[in-house]
Amino acid sequence: MNGQRETFSSGLAVFFATLGSAVGLGNIWKFPYLVGEYGGGAFLAVYLLCVAFIGLPVMWTEFYVGRKTRKNPVGAMSMLSPGTPWKHVGTMGVASAYLIMFFYSCVAGWVYYYLFKAIQGDFVGITMEAAKAEFGAVVVGPLSPVLWQFIVLVVVSSIIAFGVQKGIERMTKTLMPLLFVLILICDFRALTLPGAGAGVDFLFQVDFSKLSGAAILTAMGLAFFKLSLGMGTMTTYASYFTADNNLFRTGAKVAVSDTMVSLLAGLAVFPTVFSFGLEPGAGPGLLFMTIPLVFSQIPFGNLLLVAFFFLASIAATTAMLSLVEVPTAWMSEEYGVDRKKAAALNALIIFCIGILATLSVDKASFLGSYTWLGRGFFDWFDYLSSNVMLPVGGLCFVIFVRRHLSWEELRREFSNGGALPLGGMFTFYWFSVRYVTPVLLGLIFLHSVGVL
Ligand code: PHE
Repeated sequence: MNGQRETFSSGLAVFFATLGSAVGLGNIWKFPYLVGEYGGGAFLAVYLLCVAFIGLPVMWTEFYVGRKTRKNPVGAMSMLSPGTPWKHVGTMGVASAYLIMFFYSCVAGWVYYYLFKAIQGDFVGITMEAAKAEFGAVVVGPLSPVLWQFIVLVVVSSIIAFGVQKGIERMTKTLMPLLFVLILICDFRALTLPGAGAGVDFLFQVDFSKLSGAAILTAMGLAFFKLSLGMGTMTTYASYFTADNNLFRTGAKVAVSDTMVSLLAGLAVFPTVFSFGLEPGAGPGLLFMTIPLVFSQIPFGNLLLVAFFFLASIAATTAMLSLVEVPTAWMSEEYGVDRKKAAALNALIIFCIGILATLSVDKASFLGSYTWLGRGFFDWFDYLSSNVMLPVGGLCFVIFVRRHLSWEELRREFSNGGALPLGGMFTFYWFSVRYVTPVLLGLIFLHSVGVL
């Protein structure tokens, strides 16, 4: 089946498809709220280090595995190391994909709902108090957030079932630059608000004394979540890369662009937070409270707000497509389930369990008051996937390289059989993947369980 595998048409197509999986709610929703919760600049600094010394080497490794074997993660590992348990790295990826989707579909539902409300004009001239109350009302529901989560899942599974994914991805190529432009407009507006400077300081002033062990683990988890690493998504994408693709360069470009989108989102959120006197550690609602304020008092504000939530919905939807694809491909390739049925079944599974996440956000509700070790359903799904399973998956990939792949073999693949000059990149990769990345991952894990 894999003999005549399709590949992307060009290097640019490779770049945009990969970026389409990376850029999503992680940049505009999760990144600002975590930076806010964990104290700003120091968290950002650790995050950037994690992207460079853990994220990039893991991404390049996943690229290697995917393009070398041209198979899905389970098949790829079985091919590189037949008869060993390594293929379960792929199986674990399926579990991570489900966990992420349980809460991702909830947040995507909020974004769709905000788009709907913006179209109705609900945010025109909104004040800070009203913006806070609005978000509170949205998550409390209880019917509406569940309904919007359902709509998200119907949209995502229909796109997969009707095979129009290619069309959607082509459309994303034009819409993604638009999202970028819109975030720039947000930045411009936010940075000209009175008192905006405090927000910029919060984001960029590094004070390591504010940094807790939990913050370091979360920054690392965010790097994995952001770059869609540790669960085989990038392996799958790379299995469609062209043979002449420069893996190092593609990985670096994706990581840099993705980080830029996150930083620009931070530059829209924090100046607004400080200017309006919101709380930077307000939690998952941060984006939803600030963006309506950014646009509240400018000409064409509501139109821009509609555009923002429209593009955010698209970004959330395309990131979800790359997530749902993982269990859908697994069901159809491993168990012969028809793709349409697999897509529908997955939507149903995600909805049934995802409801728990959605209803647990309201702390006053029955499910919201139900916590275990201080976390409710939403937080557990998020914590387990980002902070535990994705990093463990990434660690498995780098250990695999150490044990099975030689300097010569890696050089051959990354230089496309000698066609590309590798320069210092290869040395950086070799030392990171063999020493720096596994040691850092290990230290962060030990630190987070209190051993260090
Ligand atoms: N990277 C995506 C985002 O930032 C989320 C994602 C994680 C997508 C893992 C695929 C796999 O929103």
